[in-house]
Amino acid sequence: MKILKTINELNAFRNALKGTVGFVPTMGALHNGHLSLIQKSLQENDHTIVSIFVNPTQFLEGEDFHQYPKKTDADIKICSLAGVDALFMPQSDVMYAPLEPSILAPASKAYILEGFARPGHFDGVLRVVLKLLHLSKPTHAYFGKKDAQQLYLIQNMVKTLFLEVNIVPCEIVREEDGLALSSRNIYLDTEQRKEALLLSQSLQTATRAIISGQREIDVIKQEMKEVLRPLHVEYVEILNRDFDTMRTIVLSNTVILVCAKVGQTRLIDNLWI
Ligand code: PAJ
Repeated sequence: MKILKTINELNAFRNALKGTVGFVPTMGALHNGHLSLIQKSLQENDHTIVSIFVNPTQFLEGEDFHQYPKKTDADIKICSLAGVDALFMPQSDVMYAPLEPSILAPASKAYILEGFARPGHFDGVLRVVLKLLHLSKPTHAYFGKKDAQQLYLIQNMVKTLFLEVNIVPCEIVREEDGLALSSRNIYLDTEQRKEALLLSQSLQTATRAIISGQREIDVIKQEMKEVLRPLHVEYVEILNRDFDTMRTIVLSNTVILVCAKVGQTRLIDNLWI
C-alpha cells in the first residue's frame, strides 16, 4: 500500500490507475464502520483510495479538534491488511491555502439538526469533500448512513455541481448490543456506554410502533423521547429523505434521527424506513 502525503504524490498515483476507483474519505481512528465502507469499495472497484484527514474547517471553536482520537499506526495497518491501494494522509497546509473561495452548504438543510448545534460544520465538510473528490477523481465514493445529513448534503453537492462520481450510501455498522460504531465512543466510560444504548433503543421503539401500524410522527417522537428521557436529548426528528418535515410516515421515504449527549459526548444515530 502506498502512503501519499502531497498533492503531487496523489496526482501521480491516481493518474496511473486504470479502471474503476473507489474512494473512502475518513478522519481516521478507524473502526469496523469505516472498514465496512473500505471493504465495499474493494469489492466494487479495481482500486481503492482511503483518506485520513482530521479536517479543521468542520470543527467549531471549542469542539474536540485537538483531542480528536489519532491512531495512525493502527489505521495504516488496517488499510494495508484490508488491501487498500493507497492511503492519502495530508497535513492541513497541503489541503488549505490562506485565501480560498467559500463553499456554503444550502442553509435550509445545513443549519438544522447537526448544523443547528454545529453552525458552519457542513460548510467545512463540503469544502473538504469537494477537494478530496477533485483530487482522487473516484468513480465511486463511499459514505455511511450513520451521518445521514452529511450524506444528504454530499449527494446534493454532487448532483448540483455536476460532479462525475457515484455516491454509494453504506449501512450503519453497530455493536452487538445496537450501539452505532463511532470514533467518539472511546470517550464513554462504562456507565455512559450503557446509557448510550438508549439511542438505538429509541429507534427500535419507533420501528415497533411503525410495524404495529402507527404512522403519526408526533406520537412516535413522543414514544422515543420517553425512552431517551434519562439523557440530554438534542433532537428527535422524523423527516423525509430530502430532510423536509412531514406529519405522517411515508414508507421508503423516511429517516428518523436522534442526537443526545451522554456526559460531554454528543452521539447521533438514525434509521431509514
Ligand atoms: P468520519 O467520522 O471518520 O467517518 C468517515 C465515514 O465513515 C463517513 O462516511 C461516516 O458516515 C462513516 N461511518 C462512521 N461510523 C459509521 C458506522 N458506524 N457505520 C457505517 N459508516 C460509518 O464523516 C467524516 O469522517 C468526515 O466528515 C469526512 C466525510 C471524512 C469529511 O471530513
